[in-house]
Amino acid sequence: MVIKELRPVFSPELVQSRVQELAAEIDELYKGKPLLIICVLKGGFMFFADLVRVMKHDDVQVDFVRLSSYGSATSSSEHITFNKDVEIPLQGKDVLVVEDMIDSGLTMEFLLSTLAQRGAKSLRLAILIDKHERRKVEIKPDFVGFTLEQGFIVGCGLDYAKRFRTLPGIYEVIPE
Ligand code: PRP
Repeated sequence: MVIKELRPVFSPELVQSRVQELAAEIDELYKGKPLLIICVLKGGFMFFADLVRVMKHDDVQVDFVRLSSYGSATSSSEHITFNKDVEIPLQGKDVLVVEDMIDSGLTMEFLLSTLAQRGAKSLRLAILIDKHERRKVEIKPDFVGFTLEQGFIVGCGLDYAKRFRTLPGIYEVIPE
């Protein structure tokens, strides 16, 4: 695909102010409780870093997962595996998964159902972008930055052909 333009959807300033709001909600919910925050690589890295940087909660552990999906290039895969699993045991912990986007929902269905079997005290999900265009399974995130119905978006961790992840805002890729 030849890209004609990257059309701004959410400005860097808007993203940061929304992240601040989510951080305040998360701080409030977990006040006085140790928290394990899991970043889903690669896409989750920017939202995760922005979020934990502005959170006031000071009893936080962090960990990382990396998932791979295998399947057709044109549809979300049904087959998802860990490339890298968490290293900190979840048993008895309050756990928050931080991810850039839900699209079909298959990635989060796999991850949350897998982590749910590991004895966490609670398991919640924070998503920067909840996109509905290709949703296949119902996922209800606990914290949502923005909701979008459609569009191919990049920035804030989201890539197109491995590009544009580091853009500080969210943009829609417009083809020629
Ligand atoms: C993207 C995104 C989510 C997933 C959402 O990851 O970061 O993990 O797709 O799609 P779904 O709801 O349809 O499952 P991707 O597989 O592109 O990997 P990446 O995070 O390394 O970019």
